[in-house]
Amino acid sequence: MTLLIKNIKELLQVRDTNVTIVKGEDMKVLPILKNAYLLIEHDTIVEFGPMEECLNIEADQTIDATGKVVLPTWCDSHTHIVYAGDRTQEFVDRINGLSYEDIANRGGGILNSAEQLQNTSEDELYNQASKRLTEVIKLGTGAIEIKSGYGLTVEAELKMLRVIKRLKHDFPIPVKPTLLAAHAIPKAYKGNKKAFIDIVVNELIPKAAEAHLAEYIDVFCEKGYFDLEDTQRILEAAKAHRLIPKIHVNQFNAFGGVALGVEYDALSVDHLEELNPEDISALQGSNTMPVALPSCSYFLSIPYTPGRAIIDAGLPLALATDYNPGSTPSGNMNFVVSSACIKMKLTPEEAINAATINGAYAMGLSNRYGSICRGKKANIIITKAIPGYYHLPYAFGNNLIETVIINGDVF
Ligand code: NIG
Ligand code: FE
Repeated sequence: MTLLIKNIKELLQVRDTNVTIVKGEDMKVLPILKNAYLLIEHDTIVEFGPMEECLNIEADQTIDATGKVVLPTWCDSHTHIVYAGDRTQEFVDRINGLSYEDIANRGGGILNSAEQLQNTSEDELYNQASKRLTEVIKLGTGAIEIKSGYGLTVEAELKMLRVIKRLKHDFPIPVKPTLLAAHAIPKAYKGNKKAFIDIVVNELIPKAAEAHLAEYIDVFCEKGYFDLEDTQRILEAAKAHRLIPKIHVNQFNAFGGVALGVEYDALSVDHLEELNPEDISALQGSNTMPVALPSCSYFLSIPYTPGRAIIDAGLPLALATDYNPGSTPSGNMNFVVSSACIKMKLTPEEAINAATINGAYAMGLSNRYGSICRGKKANIIITKAIPGYYHLPYAFGNNLIETVIINGDVF
């Protein structure tokens, strides 16, 4: 089965060599072919080039992309799409003056989602999450990471991870499972955080790892949640089970979580709305990807991650949604790319690099996803007819995507 996409107005993110990360100045470069073709065989990109070189190519199926932009699908490296119900009441409470912290302090927030999740069956949880996953693929996401973290008991966390495993099995895109082992201190352990961490370390991590339900370990390293010492204990336990860290740090306070993540060779450190010069230094020379989540900043009205400073320091940057019921009830990577340009002052080229190849890196997938490269998976976005790729961030809030191709098939 071959699929030819021809007359492409702009083919974005074309790479002759399999680049797996872009950093600093290189992020400004988004290689583009104008008036191009793309040839897919089964699920793989096999060739691309200028239209003049396409004349003799025959394919089983042809798509005419006249006036349209073609790019690799978005790689969303940070989501929490397995959750039960919603938190709309808290949304309104925040409009009326309460803060995210106020809501958490009165037993809402993550604890509210945990209670809803514990009372929801595994099948129902799967149904809700699969609707969200279908929705985000239609919005152009072609690889995704999904975290647990709303269980807060061993049983409920394993239930979440089994749902993620089922999604991974049933959907055609890569789904990377993360055990967000310490997301909040459960009500039953209020004032006894150590006992909860004992369970995480002695029971939850071993059980999740032995059942091969997670590749990554996550901790909400934040004041009022888990401090550096707690985080280190959990990362140490996870290391023994070969779970790689991808951690929530610096969302509201910066106190050394980035350096700790780097010390444990985290694949990514995510959020970074608060960032110190020491955090930037810690990232320099590391293999850890900083990940910004601008939709979360938008929804909570908190600062945006200083992506400009990160890139200008020569570092890479990835963008992800953080899709979750409390801080980001949206999985729209198009909006993420747009807000990174508008609010974080990334250029369109930087934002698209951050949302494709670097997002793939933050899931350990960038050798097979995140760019238009021969031999890579054919996960492709075709836009509607638009004047050019600047329109992707410029026309914020519009859905400019016409077709999403996953593994060579229209989704
Ligand atoms: O990434 N910050 C921690 N976790 C989620 C939000 C959790 C929630 O409010 O449900 C986040 O923003
Ligand atoms: Fe998150």
